[in-house]
Amino acid sequence: RAAGQSVADLTGKHVLVSAGGTREHLDPVRYLGNSSSGKQGYALARIAAARGAKVTLVAANSELPDPAGVQVVPVVSTRDLYDEITGRAADADAIVMAAAPADFRPADFAEHKIKKTADGAVPAVNLIQTPDILKTVSHDRARPGQVIVGFAAETGDAEHTVLELGRAKLERKGCDLLVINDVSGGKVFGSDVNEAVIIDRNGTALPFPSGSKDALAGVIWNLVATHWH
Ligand code: CTP
Ligand code: CA
Repeated sequence: RAAGQSVADLTGKHVLVSAGGTREHLDPVRYLGNSSSGKQGYALARIAAARGAKVTLVAANSELPDPAGVQVVPVVSTRDLYDEITGRAADADAIVMAAAPADFRPADFAEHKIKKTADGAVPAVNLIQTPDILKTVSHDRARPGQVIVGFAAETGDAEHTVLELGRAKLERKGCDLLVINDVSGGKVFGSDVNEAVIIDRNGTALPFPSGSKDALAGVIWNLVATHWH
């Protein structure tokens, strides 16, 4: 089904979508972050709402306007995102993790702004891992029939293709669908178009050659709907 077509085929479903990039604060004014724009997650939320779903969008630090008819829950850190997603999972018929959660956060948070010292000493930053939200909800399966979708941006490496890395990631996460973006050569980030392969647990790989983030969102919801049936 083409994106934007006004068929209310997701009516009666509640979908939970995450978007944006999380921030992990070192002190009140500094953080570790990433440059995720949130565009794909917002497109997923907008398209689902247009197709009749009840939509909750947990949005990390995105500057995009709230999509019409969508409940937007703002978060800052991966921990916040974890709390909001796991807290709402039992009510969701689908969970789509389009956000880019930081994998690491500073082990300590300084209550006051960290200051330079006259002797030129540099503070050390110890990092610890953040919780894996997609893995947690995939293993918990808080609601029967729930469909869980992850995203992966991969470049491939010397030993593995983008698709091989994606298959291993789907297995590791335990989700139902994984949308793999090939980001070799700096594609996708911040752009309005996307090129992807969507894989499922049976090993099926559906290519999405190139199109708008709205079009990709439409294809993803079509696949989620297929899993519900
Ligand atoms: N994800 C998550 N919680 C995290 C990190 C990632 O839920 N703490 C989700 C992302 O939203 C995405 C999927 O997991 O849907 C894959 O993210 P990715 O960064 O590719 O996976 P990682 O397991 O963090 O592996 P990598 O070392 O490749 O970053
Ligand atoms: Ca990661």
